[in-house]
Amino acid sequence: MNNALIIPSVSPTIDELVAQCGHYVQQKLNLAIAQRGIARMALAGGNTPKALYAWLASPAQASRVNWSSVQFYFGDERSVPRSHPDSNYGMAKTYLFDPLGINQDQVFPMISEPMLDIVEEAARYEKILDSWRDQSAGRTPPVFDLALNGMGADGHFASLFPDTPALLEREHWVVANPVEKLATQRITLTYPVFEQARAVCFLVAGSDKQDAFFAVQQPDSGLPVARLIRKRQTDWFVDQACIEGI
Ligand code: 6PG
Repeated sequence: MNNALIIPSVSPTIDELVAQCGHYVQQKLNLAIAQRGIARMALAGGNTPKALYAWLASPAQASRVNWSSVQFYFGDERSVPRSHPDSNYGMAKTYLFDPLGINQDQVFPMISEPMLDIVEEAARYEKILDSWRDQSAGRTPPVFDLALNGMGADGHFASLFPDTPALLEREHWVVANPVEKLATQRITLTYPVFEQARAVCFLVAGSDKQDAFFAVQQPDSGLPVARLIRKRQTDWFVDQACIEGI
């Protein structure tokens, strides 16, 4: 049995990487819709997912998922208004929601309009997740069908950054997380949510992620991604540049 924490799907080019991950996303969403009539997905922010979202929304691929049965949530968000260039919601709107003509009531941004205090936004979002989670099993986390993540060169995912308080959060499913090195606060889903998701996938590209890709697999690593992949199975889509020389 291969005990490797990560058994990646490796693609030689970004285009092939995006297609590989895209087919996986389609398969996970269609499975959820077939089984429960709805698919709930937590989207990744940052740059790498842009090409994936554009591929999913492309004319050749758009009809492969019944998008009207998908609800879109976010794994994390920057503390900026929705219209701000750094907004993960704004990015997803540009590359996925608008091209697919997604109905606004299927989309759950982490930031309100107008924007509230970041701690209030986290509490508001937790209420939204609480509204659809399975209440019969007590205070168990909401279960996403798919949580899509990227990984930072420092081994962070969502906005679970090294040496930040949210790494220790086990009570709340969404928190405002002060990230000193970015001199900002982020909103992020927490480990209990990622641990319970039906599928968790990482889309990672570029040689600048090589060290982190290697480091998070070290048995004693305390890096944010390492803490998750030691606890549960995760699916990885990486490009050749990310693993070259490893
Ligand atoms: C964010 C993301 C974050 C991202 C990584 C990788 O809001 O920035 O959710 O976790 O996935 O920072 O970002 P890139 O894809 O831009 O390298």
